[in-house]
Amino acid sequence: MKKNKEKSAHDVWYSGFERYFIKPPWRSGNKRDAATVLVVFFFFLFLGALLFVGWFDASVFRGISIQKPTVTPTRMPPKFPLKCTTGNLTQQTCPKNYPTKHNPTTNPDRPSNLTTCPSYFQWIHDDLRHWRETGITRDMIERGRKTAHFRLVIVNGKGYVERYRKSIQTRDMFTLWGILQLLRRYPGKLPDLELMFDCDDRPVIPSKNFRGPNAAPPPLFRYCSDWHSLDIVFPDWSFWGWAETNIRPWKNLLTDIKKGNSRTKWKDRTPYAYWRGNPWVSPVRQDLLKCNVSDQNDWNTRLYIQIYIEGWAWSVSEKYILACDSMTMYVTPRYHDFFIRGMVPLQHYWPIRDNSKCTSLKFAVEWGNNHTEEAQAIGEAASKFIHEDMKIDYVYDYIFHLLNEYAKLLKFKPTIPPGAEELCPETMACPTNGTHRKFLEESMVLSPSDTIPCTLPPNDPSVLRNLLDRKVKSTKQVEMWENEYWENLNKKQ
Ligand SMILES: *[C@@H]1O[C@H](CO)[C@@H](O)[C@H](O)[C@H]1NC(C)=O
Ligand SMILES: *[C@@H]1O[C@H](CO)[C@@H](O)[C@H](O)[C@H]1NC(C)=O
Ligand SMILES: *[C@@H]1O[C@H](CO)[C@@H](O)[C@H](O)[C@H]1NC(C)=O
Ligand SMILES: *[C@@H]1O[C@H](CO)[C@@H](O)[C@H](O)[C@H]1NC(C)=O
Ligand SMILES: *[C@@H]1O[C@H](CO)[C@@H](O)[C@H](O)[C@H]1NC(C)=O
Repeated sequence: MKKNKEKSAHDVWYSGFERYFIKPPWRSGNKRDAATVLVVFFFFLFLGALLFVGWFDASVFRGISIQKPTVTPTRMPPKFPLKCTTGNLTQQTCPKNYPTKHNPTTNPDRPSNLTTCPSYFQWIHDDLRHWRETGITRDMIERGRKTAHFRLVIVNGKGYVERYRKSIQTRDMFTLWGILQLLRRYPGKLPDLELMFDCDDRPVIPSKNFRGPNAAPPPLFRYCSDWHSLDIVFPDWSFWGWAETNIRPWKNLLTDIKKGNSRTKWKDRTPYAYWRGNPWVSPVRQDLLKCNVSDQNDWNTRLYIQIYIEGWAWSVSEKYILACDSMTMYVTPRYHDFFIRGMVPLQHYWPIRDNSKCTSLKFAVEWGNNHTEEAQAIGEAASKFIHEDMKIDYVYDYIFHLLNEYAKLLKFKPTIPPGAEELCPETMACPTNGTHRKFLEESMVLSPSDTIPCTLPPNDPSVLRNLLDRKVKSTKQVEMWENEYWENLNKKQ
């Protein structure tokens, strides 16, 4: 462990630090997908890295911390850390002292500033467009209950949950935790609402079943969707930590990755496309194995099988890969999460054909090694997107606007169901221990934000049309280059 402490993320992840990463699609078979490369790597990383998280209050490790809200002298807002009762934790109650309102403009040191949200926020309008004309009735919501893990209710700024079934691992807990932190970040700013949340992987509301003006599809929130489904995309639980795989909360993780990125210059990295993961979860991945270097062929690709404790993500690892400065080679995906729709081939990643991966990869790597500045720029653009447009503040703002726009569509008055639990850090975190506890505390919002959410641009379908247009064009461009390259090569032979 001592030794790991000096290692950066990358030492464990890739042996030599490669210039290019392959990002195969998520599950395309029926088996659960595994979260490719990163899980094991982060596991080792965090064994070591968590030891040096300096600011991390040692009381976390002692289990229970009893602290009064501390008022610091520099006009910072008071902090409200976790307050667990000693003794019987099942009798833990929610403290009543957290502010229910906060006006950021009252703090002259950190004036609120109006910024426009990153452009991928436009997808919020798109995800909700099916209900724009009809609004959302209680009946529509109830029809999402079939597969939902919980119902979230917000009334008068407080969150409540009605649980229906257990989710995989602790996805539900960390998702609810994220929503609770949003409520603490912007107290009193979210309108009343009710929604159904499904924590499983695959979208379940096929749009073909809901055509016509009276179709009334159930609005159902989940972590990903595809072009044939109406499921509403919500940031996944791992932004607040993925305890089972030891992937720490996003904010500090990004800082760790940034440090790692600065350790090996792009030009010093190995000039191959690299992938490490579990190929047996999907035929696309098994197909990818054919591209490994052999006596007959060198596709500029180095692939390693890594099978580890079942990890399950579809795109959870995507954001970590894209944050690493290497150029990501993205095999045409089927599913999308909330941010990938804002990324563009050739600007943020290199598109790889699904139906001819090896030739596509070989060309891509050779192109990158011929055009190092451009390839490096693509890697950096993705990294910049992830580190800036996807920083945790914007993740919160995305959820804020998604819920806010959603609530505008509700045609009934949300009410707290009998038997629903109030969400508060104490009832959620105090009974936990170990890594779960550590990550919950690490990602806890201690006081209201002194900034207001970024401004959501009004619905403008032309923005998304242009974006999709650029995606299609740049993918076609790459395919044309590839075709020319292989035609020339075949002529020579
Ligand atoms: C804690 O409180 C619950 C509910 O009041 C009770 O059922 C349980 O027996 C108590 N546990 C202990 C260890 O006192
Ligand atoms: C935002 O900050 C900039 C620079 O600090 C300032 O000039 C501008 O007036 C601020 N805008 C608002 C709306 O507060
Ligand atoms: C791919 O090739 C490398 C280098 O020869 C080898 O170490 C690795 O085990 C191979 N991977 C697979 C999945 O066969
Ligand atoms: C890379 O450069 C070499 C040498 O100039 C050239 O033969 C090859 O076609 C180039 N490949 C690509 C993909 O640009
Ligand atoms: C942590 O909590 C789990 C479940 O509540 C319990 O089974 C386990 O014994 C606890 N571990 C420690 C070290 O307290």
